[in-house]
Amino acid sequence: MTVHTPVPGPGAVDMSSALGRLVMPDPVLTASGCAAAGRELAPFLDLRAIGAVVTKSIMLEPRSGRPTPRMAETPSGMVNSIGLQGPGIEEFIAKDLRWLRERGIRTVVSIAGGSVQEYQKLAQRLRHEPGIAALEVNISCPNVESRGQVFACDPFSAGSVVQVVRRHSAPDVPVLAKLSPDVTDIVAIAKSVLDAGADGVSLINTLLGMVIDPDTMRPTLGGMTGGLSGPAIRPVAVRAVWQVHAAFPRVPILGMGGIRTGQDAFEFLLAGASAVSVGTAVFNDPHAPARISAELRDILAARGFASLSDAVGLGHTMQARHVAARDARRAAQEDTP
Ligand code: DHB
Repeated sequence: MTVHTPVPGPGAVDMSSALGRLVMPDPVLTASGCAAAGRELAPFLDLRAIGAVVTKSIMLEPRSGRPTPRMAETPSGMVNSIGLQGPGIEEFIAKDLRWLRERGIRTVVSIAGGSVQEYQKLAQRLRHEPGIAALEVNISCPNVESRGQVFACDPFSAGSVVQVVRRHSAPDVPVLAKLSPDVTDIVAIAKSVLDAGADGVSLINTLLGMVIDPDTMRPTLGGMTGGLSGPAIRPVAVRAVWQVHAAFPRVPILGMGGIRTGQDAFEFLLAGASAVSVGTAVFNDPHAPARISAELRDILAARGFASLSDAVGLGHTMQARHVAARDARRAAQEDTP
């Protein structure tokens, strides 16, 4: 493995980023679910300049979602329970995908299903649609009727979904499996989806959470439980990225979970992500993806990186060096009489 030695001093940084065949001029994408199909961010951001828009997970049929209230604020985060509200695949293709395609916006389509067969139908329906840069397979939505339906909580179910999606999607379109942190061993789930043909993984989806209102003395959310996102979950996400990159260093990782600044994004790169998604942060700063990219570029430039890809997984190399130096010091001390 080549070891990049950062040389101080600002300079131009090649910010291009690759997730398998998906090559982007910028490493910051939106995160699924936080800006529908991107249209609402268009007044604030040049959506062609960011890595890609990742759309809200789409299902086969239109859905009205879960009862309100659907969002609750928490310390350094929020819990949401939308219930995969959406127009269904046909309207999504006719309106949202068309809107994105006409503007030349790189688009990652997130899909969600209630059964393996539904995922298969979604993949088949999207197969011949132009303008799809990648598919993100949401197998980890926390807001389903039963935990048994969270495919990403079981290696076999996770692999089964990814296998049909990979098999029925256009071969040149990368398939990313979005995993849940609510598992004992995320590396085992990652192995299963990679064996099933995933080209990469998106890490992480929200954590299952709950808020109880002290006035009503019952759960705040209409759906009772919801997905926790925001800075509160960032260390969990960084840990998941680190573990999966350590186990599969060549697998592309799209990292996400509480990224709010360029420094946060840098942390994900060091852990092993090749690109990052920004979600919850856009609710109070709709410019966040562009701002975070500019901040990240400045951090990389200040540290003397010529290219963003040199930082991907560097935390592992630095840690290995640190441990080797520490061991050498200890060995030298033991040798001294
Ligand atoms: C929803 C879906 C998700 O994947 C998530 O992380 C949070 C909420 C939803 O639609 O309810």
